[in-house]
Amino acid sequence: MTDERSCLIVFTPSGKRGRFVPGTPVLQAARKLGVDIDSVCGGRGICGRCQVLVAEGEFAKHGITSRSDHLTAFSEPEQRYAAKSELKEGRRLSCHARIENDVVIDVPADSQVHHQVVRKEFEAHDIELDPVTRLYYIEVQKPDLGDARGDLERVGAALSEQWQLDDIRCDFAALKDLQDLLRKDAWQITVAVRNERDIVAVWAGYKENLYGIAIDVGSTTIAAHLCDLASGDVEATAGSMNPQIRFGEDLMSRVSYVMQNPGGDKELTRAVRKAINQLIRQVADGAGIQTSDILELTLVGNPVMHHLVLGISPVQLGVAPFALATDSALELNAEGLGLRINAGGHVYVLPCIAGHVGADAAAVMLAEAPYADEKISLIIDVGTNAEILLGNNQRMLAASSPTGPAFEGAQISCGQRAAPGAIERVRIDPGSLEPKFKVIGCDLWSDEDGFQEGIAGIGVTGICGSGIIEVLAQMFLAGLLNQDGVIIGDLAARTSRIIADGRTASYVLHEGEPDVVIRQNDVRAIQLAKAALHAGAQLLMDEFGVEHVDTIRLAGAFGSHIDVKYAMVLGMIPDCDLTRVSPAGNAASTGARIALLNKAARKDIEERIRLVEKIETAVAPAFQQHFVEAMAIPHKTDPFENLAREVSLPARTVANTNDLRRKRSRRKRLARP
Ligand code: FES
Repeated sequence: MTDERSCLIVFTPSGKRGRFVPGTPVLQAARKLGVDIDSVCGGRGICGRCQVLVAEGEFAKHGITSRSDHLTAFSEPEQRYAAKSELKEGRRLSCHARIENDVVIDVPADSQVHHQVVRKEFEAHDIELDPVTRLYYIEVQKPDLGDARGDLERVGAALSEQWQLDDIRCDFAALKDLQDLLRKDAWQITVAVRNERDIVAVWAGYKENLYGIAIDVGSTTIAAHLCDLASGDVEATAGSMNPQIRFGEDLMSRVSYVMQNPGGDKELTRAVRKAINQLIRQVADGAGIQTSDILELTLVGNPVMHHLVLGISPVQLGVAPFALATDSALELNAEGLGLRINAGGHVYVLPCIAGHVGADAAAVMLAEAPYADEKISLIIDVGTNAEILLGNNQRMLAASSPTGPAFEGAQISCGQRAAPGAIERVRIDPGSLEPKFKVIGCDLWSDEDGFQEGIAGIGVTGICGSGIIEVLAQMFLAGLLNQDGVIIGDLAARTSRIIADGRTASYVLHEGEPDVVIRQNDVRAIQLAKAALHAGAQLLMDEFGVEHVDTIRLAGAFGSHIDVKYAMVLGMIPDCDLTRVSPAGNAASTGARIALLNKAARKDIEERIRLVEKIETAVAPAFQQHFVEAMAIPHKTDPFENLAREVSLPARTVANTNDLRRKRSRRKRLARP
C-alpha cells in the first residue's frame, strides 16, 4: 500500500521492512533497517558489492505489488559499472537505485557481508563469513595550509565520516607508504582494516579484493587454501611434502634430530617456512594475484610442527611431561615469522590442546563442532600420531595415540604413499582365495578387460595405506589371516598365493615388477598401529563412561580414503553402526579456513579448548591392557556386534561371554562416577 509520503520496502530473505520517502537509495534503507548488504566503496558505484534484485509480482503477504520500475531508472553510475564489470541480469546497484514505489528487494547471498560459505564435501557445517580484515574505500580531504593535521589523521577522519570507524590506529608497515599512495590517485585510497581498528595495508584508488590463506602443516604434507575474504571462495589450493622429512620420517625422530644436533631446530624451521612460502607463491600464481594481496594467514599443525614453524625448539615435546611453550592462540606479524604475504599481514595460530594434541586437533574440533551436539562423537585424525576427540555438548575429551607411519604405507614391505600405481582397493574370493585389485590412476578392477591397457605407463608399484587396510581385512574375511593376525601357512596346499617366508607365510597379492607381497611383518606393523588407535579411543570411552559412541568421523587424507567397513573389520576403530561412521575430509584445513573467514570462530575455539579434558595415553594404566586386547582382529574381547550384522565375521571372532563380561565390569570401574 503506498501513501503519498512513503513507500514500503521489504527485504528478503531477512524479511526486514520499513517505510521510506521516495528517492531514498535502497542501500540507505537497508542500512537503516539493519539489512546485511556489502559495500567496499561506500556507495560510490565502484565496487559492485551492493547488488540487489527486485522481486516482481503480487505479494499478498506484504500487501504490495512489486515491479522493477518501482525503483528509479538505471542510473549513470550503474551503466558505468555494468560496462566495465559483470552486473547479472536484473540486478541493480542498491547504492544508486532509489525507491519510487512499494517494492520487494531480494539480497542475493553474494551481496551479504555475513553470508554462508557453501559447504564442501565432507564438511560438517556451513561457514559464516565474517573475516577479521576488511577493505574500505575512502576519499580523503587534501591538506592545506589551514589544516595542520597529518595525512594519517585525515585518513582517520575519512574512515569515521564515511564508515563510522573510530579510534583507528595504523600499523607502521602501512604508514610508511601512506603519503605516496594518497597522492597517487587524487586522495582516493582503499585501506585494509583489521578488527575494525587497525589499518594494516593501503592501496591507491579502489582495491577490489583481499585474500587470506589457511595452512595446515602436517608431519608429511603441507596444504594451503587461498580464500577470497569477501566471498569465502577457495580460489586456489596447493600441497607439498613437508621437507622436514629428510630430518626424520616421524615427529619423534625430528625431535631427536633437534636434541642431537645443536641448531637443528633452526634448520627445521627454515625448511618448513621455505615450503610454506613456496606454497603461498604457488596459490597466489594459481589465482593470478600478488602475494601482497594476502593479508591474513591461519596456521594449524600438531604441536611439534606448531613449534617449529614458530621457531620454537620442540625439545620439551619429546620428554615427559611434554610441555608446550604455549597452548594459547597467537596473533603474530607474518613478516616476523618470515612468511611472505603483505608486509602488514597477520598470522593467527590456533590454540593447542595438549603436548601431543595440537592446533590441528583444535581445527578439527572447530570444523566438526562435536560440542554443539547431544550425540557422542568420536573424531579421529589419522596420521603418524592419531589425534582423538570424544564428546558432546556436555563434555569433551582429547588424547593422542602413537600409531606410527604404517597407515601411510611406511614400515610395510611393499608400502608406498598414495600415488599412481599404488594398489588402493582389494577383494579376495573366499573360495578360490584369488585377489582382484584397483590401482590409483585406473578405474578398472585387475580382472576386468582393459586393465592392462589402463595401467600402461602407470604399472603396479606397491600398496598404499587404504590398500593395506583392505587387503588385511579381506585376508581375514577369507580365512587367510586368523584373529591373532597370523597368515595361515597351511593354506599353501590350497593356493599358490601363500608362500613360505622363513618361519612365517606371505600372501602374493600381485606378481609383476615388482611383486606385491603381504608379509607377516606387514600384518604386525598394521596390528600395532591399529591397536594403538583403538586403545586410545577406548581409553577416552572409559573416561567418558560409555561403551558405544553415536558417530565416528575419520579426519585426514587417510581417513577420507579408507573404506570404513574394512577399517572396522580390522578393529582400527570401535564397533559402531556403520551408517554412522563417515570420513570428515581434511577437517584440520577446514578448521583453519573457518578461523580465516570468521573472527568469532577464533574466540569460540579458544574458549572451548580450555574446557577439553586431556588424557595422556602414555601414562594411563588401562592403555596397555586395551592395547593388548586390540591387537586381535577385530578385537580380543569385543564381539563387534554392529559390524557382525553387516559382515559375516569368522566364527572365532565372537568373543566368549566371560571375556565380554570381564571387559564391561572393568569399564565400569574405570568410568567416572
Ligand atoms: Fe559499492 Fe554500491 S556500494 S557499488
